[in-house]
Formats: sequence, structure tokens, C-alpha cells
Amino acid sequence: MSGPLVLGIETSCDETGVGIVRGGDLLADALASSVDEHARFGGVVPEVASRAHLEALVPTMHRALEQAGVRMAEVDAIAVTAGPGLAGALLVGVAAAKAYALALDKPLLAVNHLAAHVAVDRLAHGDLPQPCVALLVSGGHSSLLLVDDVTKPVRSLGSTIDDAAGEAFDKVARLLGLPFPGGPHIDREAKGGDGAAIAFPRGVVRDAPYSFTFSGLKTAVARWVEARRRDGVTVPVPDVAASFQEAVVDVLTDRAVRACRDNGVDDLLIGGGVAANSRLRALAEDRCNAAGVHLRVPPPKLCTDNGAMVAALGALLVDAGAAPAPLTLAADTALSV
Ligand code: KG4
Ligand code: ZN
Repeated sequence: MSGPLVLGIETSCDETGVGIVRGGDLLADALASSVDEHARFGGVVPEVASRAHLEALVPTMHRALEQAGVRMAEVDAIAVTAGPGLAGALLVGVAAAKAYALALDKPLLAVNHLAAHVAVDRLAHGDLPQPCVALLVSGGHSSLLLVDDVTKPVRSLGSTIDDAAGEAFDKVARLLGLPFPGGPHIDREAKGGDGAAIAFPRGVVRDAPYSFTFSGLKTAVARWVEARRRDGVTVPVPDVAASFQEAVVDVLTDRAVRACRDNGVDDLLIGGGVAANSRLRALAEDRCNAAGVHLRVPPPKLCTDNGAMVAALGALLVDAGAAPAPLTLAADTALSV
């Protein structure tokens, strides 16, 4: 094992993550989630998330150090997600990272959350292909990126103009009476249904071939379900789940493979919580094979938000000689790529 020993802190949404890497090797990935506290609200409540980060950060830090078998003083740099994300949630991680960096006299590295979702795959599959197209789909974001060098600003090809893909899964799950977060439940229900049973719309954004829109699809599912309920007809949950899921993954994989083809890129990387979706993985595999594109998807634990992804990008930034962030670093909720 060689390379810088980097500690990464992630608090942009509802997961408090502390990861430790040595170069491209994962040493620790400690996580605390406040997801259960948000369940009854059907979505992440920012104030609740911030409070939970505050309580979880120090214990998660200690667990990570213990897992990695390293002492804080040995760490070469402290990396932290500076954005995009929820303001109060980001603030907890950024403040903590500054305090550790100052107290230990270590460089502070500001990390872009989306770029970190891409960089994490080096921990699973080795050096990142350059260039690659990244499809990042989670509860908070849905973006297609063209990544030449993940330590440099990456190019956004398109993103959602309304709901994120995971948000659409969560909202449709709620409509069907399934628990939050709904993605895994839709995935499971869909296995017993027919994805071609109901022809739900595939949203197209005019003049933006790599952008996504899911609000029309969500409304179409709601109308379809409400009409059945009004008529006193049982709603076939597996068929609705499968047909909705098919509409989402059809659009995601179509745009992603097209982005590879149009830009002459041979590698597609998928990240974010929705990358755990079994149908998305299967269809992406089929379409990539047909198009001669090589697909990389990190294991589910590294796809969802975690500290290891921040540390993974931090180590690349150290290797690239990136300038440390000043202690005046501010969290940037809208940080773009
Ligand atoms: O990356 P993540 O853990 O957190 C952020 O939102 O940043 O992603 C969580 C999202 C939720 O919307 C959840 O419903 C969705 O990922 N998700 C899934 C699956 N597992 C998690 N969506 C579809 N199918 C899944 N198997
Ligand atoms: Zn994320």
C-alpha cells in the first residue's frame, strides 16, 4: 500500500461518513445514518439531518480511526465535502474538518460531492478511465458528467430539471404506500411485476439531450393510481412499480450511452444511491454491451453517500498537488462541477 493517508468527511445529506484511504486503498468506511428519523416525513428534513450529524460526527470519526488502525496524527490531509448539499448539514462537516485540520496542523481539502461519487470507484476497480462519462443518480442529484480528470473541474453534460431520480422513486413509493426511502422497495416489488404493463411517459427536455425530467412521470403514475382507487379497483402495485422503474431506467441508460457515443467515450461509470437498482444495472449492462461501452459500477455501499468517496478524491488531490483550502472555506450548497 502506498500513497497519502487521507481522512474524508461527508455530511451533505443524511449520512455522516468518515472514510480513511491510503492512496487507492480503502482502510475504513464508518457511517451513521439519520434515515430512520426522516422516514415519517417521507423525505430528508434538513434540521433533523444537521442535528444528527452533530451527534454522530465524533463517534463516527473514532470508529473510522479504529477500523483503519491509524492515529489522527498520522493522517496526511483532511478532506471534506464542501458542496453541493444541504446548507446546515454541510456546515457540520466543514466546521469539523477545519477544527481537525487546525488542531493537527494538516492540510484541509475541499471536495465536490459529485466528483467524489466518481472518484470512489478507484477503491473498487482501480485507476479511473480517462475520460469517462459518469451517471450520478441519487435522492439529491441526477447528473451526467464528462470526466477527463476528476481532480479538475468536470463538465456537466446535463442534469435533472426537476426531481432527482431517487426522489421520484421515493415519491412514487409513498404513493403506493411503501416505506421511505422507497427505491429499494420499488426495486423489490418490481421483481414480481411486468415493466411493460403500463406505458408511462419518458420525459424529454427540449434542446437538452442529456438532461432529465421526472415530474411528468410522477404525475402520470399518480393519475393512473388515483383513477383505479376512485373506481374501487385494486392497484396492481408490482406492475406499477415495474412500469415506473422501467420508464426511469430506460431514460437514464439511453441518455448515458448516448453521451458516451456522442463524445467518443468508451467508459461509463454509474454512482449514487439509485445505482443499487437491479434493473438499472441490468439494462445499463445490456445497452453498454450493445454499444461497446465498458461499464463500471461501484459496490452498493460505495454508491450511496459515504466518507470513503471523499477520502478517495482527497488522495487524488494530494497526488495532483492541489492547493489546500483556507480555514475560511465556506460550505457551498450549489457547488457545481
Ligand atoms: O446516494 P444516496 O444514498 O443519498 C443521496 O440522496 O444523496 O441515495 C439515496 C436514494 C434514495 O432516493 C433511495 O430511494 C435511492 O437512492 N435508492 C434506490 C435503490 N436503493 C436506494 N432507488 C432505486 N432502486 C434501489 N434499489
Ligand atoms: Zn450523493
